[in-house]
Amino acid sequence: MRQNQKVMLDTATVLKALSQIIDPDFKKDIVELGFVRDLKIEDGVVSFTIRLTTPACPVKDQFKRQAEELVGALPGVREVQVTMDSAQPTEVTTGLPGVAHIIAVIAGKGGVGKSTTAVNLAVALMQAGAKVGLFDADAFGPNTPRMLGVRGVPLRTSGGRIVPIEAQGIKLVSIGSAIPEDQPVVWRGSLQHGFVRDFTQKTDWGDLDYLVVDMPPGTGDIPLSVMQLLPLSGALVVGTPQEVALEDVRRGVSMLQKLDVNLLGFVENMSYLVCPHCGEEIDVFGKGGMDSFAEVFGAPILARIPMDVNIRKGSDAGLPAAFQEGPVADAYRQLAAAVVQRVAVVEEENPPRAAGVPQGKAGAQPFLNVPKKN
Ligand SMILES: Nc1ncnc2c1ncn2[C@@H]1O[C@H](COP(=O)(O)OP(=O)(O)O)[C@@H](O)[C@H]1O
Ligand SMILES: [Mg+2]
Repeated sequence: MRQNQKVMLDTATVLKALSQIIDPDFKKDIVELGFVRDLKIEDGVVSFTIRLTTPACPVKDQFKRQAEELVGALPGVREVQVTMDSAQPTEVTTGLPGVAHIIAVIAGKGGVGKSTTAVNLAVALMQAGAKVGLFDADAFGPNTPRMLGVRGVPLRTSGGRIVPIEAQGIKLVSIGSAIPEDQPVVWRGSLQHGFVRDFTQKTDWGDLDYLVVDMPPGTGDIPLSVMQLLPLSGALVVGTPQEVALEDVRRGVSMLQKLDVNLLGFVENMSYLVCPHCGEEIDVFGKGGMDSFAEVFGAPILARIPMDVNIRKGSDAGLPAAFQEGPVADAYRQLAAAVVQRVAVVEEENPPRAAGVPQGKAGAQPFLNVPKKN
């Protein structure tokens, strides 16, 4: 008789307990989302895997703790073994095999901090546990090699394919590493298209969780080619708060809309200045100046990055500020976490796909003439 009163410890009971864990982005529980795998119950020992969409998931530790507590509290459980895991990049199909999510960093104009943001975002994503690549699409002012401390290191090819430069853990491909700095590059439209195609599709990226694309300023041929050729998860728009000239930003966003590229959100760069003497925040350009964009375009401000001399110095010295502990690194970490969450949400709503190349552009001239190995 007593035995009948004993609550049976079975998979259903465990799954019911785990279904109390809600993913804050998808607003669904982790069982419904199919995150729980390999559930085994043996002699009161419950083991399972929680497979997240990305290793950089900011709620990873929280999920693990909740899972341990909820299952641990079930009658009959002696031990809980939770393995945290994430989907392999190759399980997610994009136009670049092995690359799970592609994020473009755009701005209406130059000098607002696109490259600085792209490089530090890449570093922060890597620090969060992701495999990260950086494609420098700024064919006119490629400065990511300097920012990542690999200026002068030449790009190699192997078997007819580009081998990215390993730059402090980031896989970097930049035209700046392919052409001597003092050599002028003459670009025709079709060559620019060929550059984007060859430098992305003929590169051995390996498995990447995130490929960050640093864009040239504006809405010219190269941004267009990037959006046509690469299935972007979305784009983030960098601006400085005094850029009340909504026009620049509006142009960028309207390009995204036309090509059906998800708007991830905005980065307010040089948002405020921290006084080196008293630590007070000074709103040089008017912190919060980008708030209206968020409202108008219905996408969040993902982070506000202070104006800090260490950001500039770090870029010039080839050691991005995101590597240096402190409030600046914290701001980039916050940006990375916000990007990861936002990517997951927008991809669910509007899965990435390349906008496609209109007729006439298909014959873009090859940019690379990589000799094939015999
Ligand atoms: N938050 C910041 N604080 C201080 N300097 C910055 C900041 N963001 C960018 N800079 C500096 O401003 C200049 C332009 O930034 P950059 O990233 O090259 O802009 P873009 O790629 O949009 O042209 C660089 O010298 C960079 O070091
Ligand atoms: Mg730049």
